[in-house]
Amino acid sequence: MDTSAYATIKGLRVTRSYLARPLDPGDLEAILEAGRWTGSSKNRQGWVLVVIADAAARERLAAAGDFTDPIRNAAAAVALVKTADGNDFDIGRLAQNLMLAAATRGVGSCPVTLHHTGVSQRVLGLPDDQSCRFAVALGYPDPVAEEAGRALRRAAGMWGRKPPDEVIKPGPDLDH
Ligand SMILES: Cc1cc2nc3c(=O)[nH]c(=O)nc-3n(C[C@H](O)[C@H](O)[C@H](O)COP(=O)(O)O)c2cc1C
Repeated sequence: MDTSAYATIKGLRVTRSYLARPLDPGDLEAILEAGRWTGSSKNRQGWVLVVIADAAARERLAAAGDFTDPIRNAAAAVALVKTADGNDFDIGRLAQNLMLAAATRGVGSCPVTLHHTGVSQRVLGLPDDQSCRFAVALGYPDPVAEEAGRALRRAAGMWGRKPPDEVIKPGPDLDH
């Protein structure tokens, strides 16, 4: 049994504090390649991944959401553009694949909501039939700042997961 994929999946946590270091091209390429191979409904692949490393451009994209500091702090943001034949489930899978692939290479990540899709559409120069509600921030974790942020979230109870019996239920017994 290969347990390393399971460990990466279970160990994935968002990173919001990053070192001021650009992504190695090999890391970025591998992360994007994992995204490209994401499965999608009817294999439509209704997405475009827009990579934004430039700080001023990230700042403009950050204005499209309400909790976008990870985009400002990151080495790069990948805007997940949904094309006319895309859907939200596939975009979620895409984001998770990017994040898991990033984790395998020591790159931290955070999904970020772009609440104001009119702004993201303008910043990214998208046509009317495309939209962008989510981005993934990427960068090498700053261990000290990250741990401080996590300690705050732990103290505020914003940590961990609901217990199994709250989120996993037996289905109806259809034999009776
Ligand atoms: C759909 C989605 C949108 C999110 N949007 C934001 C966001 O806008 N800003 C942010 O800092 N974190 C955002 N997050 C990160 C969540 O807050 C994070 O996944 C959650 O608190 C669990 O964190 P953990 O996996 O480190 O335990 C988002 C996560 C998801 C799945």
